Amino acid sequence: MDKKEIFDILDSWNEWAGPKDIGLMRNSYVDRLEGLIQGSNQVITITGPRRAGKSYIMRQMGRLLAENEIKKENILFVNFDDPRFLSLDTKLLIQIYDIYREFMSPTDTPYIFLDEVQEIYEWEKWVRMMHELKKAKIIVSGSNAHLLSRELGTLLTGRHLDLNVFPLSFTEYLMFNNIEIKTSLDIDRKKTEIMGFFRKYMENGSFPEVTLSDKKTEILLNYFDDLLTKDLMKRFRIRKTNAMKALIKYYLSNAGNLMTFSSIGKYLEITSDTIEKFSGYLEDVYLIFQLKRFSFKVKEQEKSPRKIYAIDTGLCNAVGFRFSENIGRLAENIVYLALKRKQIVSPQIELFYWKDVQHREVDFVIKDGLGVTNLIQVCWNMRDEKTKTRELRSLQKAMKELKVKNALIITEDAEEEKKLNGFTVKTVPLWKWLLTEEGG
Ligand SMILES: Nc1ncnc2c1ncn2[C@@H]1O[C@H](COP(=O)(O)OP(=O)(O)O)[C@@H](O)[C@H]1O
Ligand SMILES: [Mg+2]
Repeated sequence: MDKKEIFDILDSWNEWAGPKDIGLMRNSYVDRLEGLIQGSNQVITITGPRRAGKSYIMRQMGRLLAENEIKKENILFVNFDDPRFLSLDTKLLIQIYDIYREFMSPTDTPYIFLDEVQEIYEWEKWVRMMHELKKAKIIVSGSNAHLLSRELGTLLTGRHLDLNVFPLSFTEYLMFNNIEIKTSLDIDRKKTEIMGFFRKYMENGSFPEVTLSDKKTEILLNYFDDLLTKDLMKRFRIRKTNAMKALIKYYLSNAGNLMTFSSIGKYLEITSDTIEKFSGYLEDVYLIFQLKRFSFKVKEQEKSPRKIYAIDTGLCNAVGFRFSENIGRLAENIVYLALKRKQIVSPQIELFYWKDVQHREVDFVIKDGLGVTNLIQVCWNMRDEKTKTRELRSLQKAMKELKVKNALIITEDAEEEKKLNGFTVKTVPLWKWLLTEEGG
């Protein structure tokens, strides 16, 4: 490719050629990103599922830098998803950098944003060189955990910090729907509206584009297709398309259920080795998460059956899940995602489920550093006395065993606080918990 062709591509992604759409501000991510960039000399990696909004957050960061008097010529964006780029290798990176310097003459150490960098073969070599020579502040993004971590693992160990991006939190979702929650007073005053939106949040999920569009199912099915063809089949060179499809459908409609690779294998008539391998890929592209059972013994933890949660409840519903029959499990999935979002700010937090030999279960065990700090039971329908008693019993047993004083029951609408022999069990509605926990 010649200079002019490459510069034309750069032109269309950079604000030096005119303002770009940056969408609605996601301040919690941009603030965090700014902290990482200014507070360290590390390479910053932005990871998360395709379509979660990584590129927009990068652009918002660029805008913020410009507002903080960083000159436009000192900021470079490169989007490797652009189909006009032909040979995707380090030669291209070198060429881009040279052309940028020649055409834009940066006056200071530039900020270089490399979007979907995993498309470039051996990108990490160039990034490491630039970083070592302190030639640029580098921020890269990628939609595949495996490719990023394998390459970073060898070349950028100890030289990078990660920001994990998720679809919208409930607070962000409300903001995208023009509802601003600033104080707890707002929560009470706007309760009816909030609850209406909460139902939609569960049903349609919270990918930014889906949230803003009327064609929700259509867009979600498109994401599903892209994920399958671009991120999975092509990248991992998978030939068993139908097996992969069946597995994704299985996971998306069994969120929160206990499963083992061999039980799924039997059910789908696929070998459990294939199930395990494919499940790893699905985790790499951030479609699913595996939750392990809490145990003081690491070995038991590893051997335990898993619970699977999905990146987005809208995807679950679009791909064949009956919303009305599964609200309880969708709620559990939403709680899991909220806890994952907490890990963005507190990466030391670890999540597990708990189960004892009598098959008593607690949905989430939260370990912060060395100790277990909280237990969460998601119990959608608290009106059924039998269910309520059972869930409470499991919780009390786990509190005793794990020596935790506080636990939480998350439900549709009940709210109370109970003290029982020195233990405190709080009950809160999910929508309210999301606003107070994730609100930030
Ligand atoms: N902050 C935002 N405001 C408005 N729309 C957004 C925002 N973030 C993402 N979107 C919408 O979602 C789509 C995917 O976002 P993008 O940033 O390209 O995701 P990613 O880079 O993670 O794949 C965008 O094309 C846009 O329609
Ligand atoms: Mg992108």
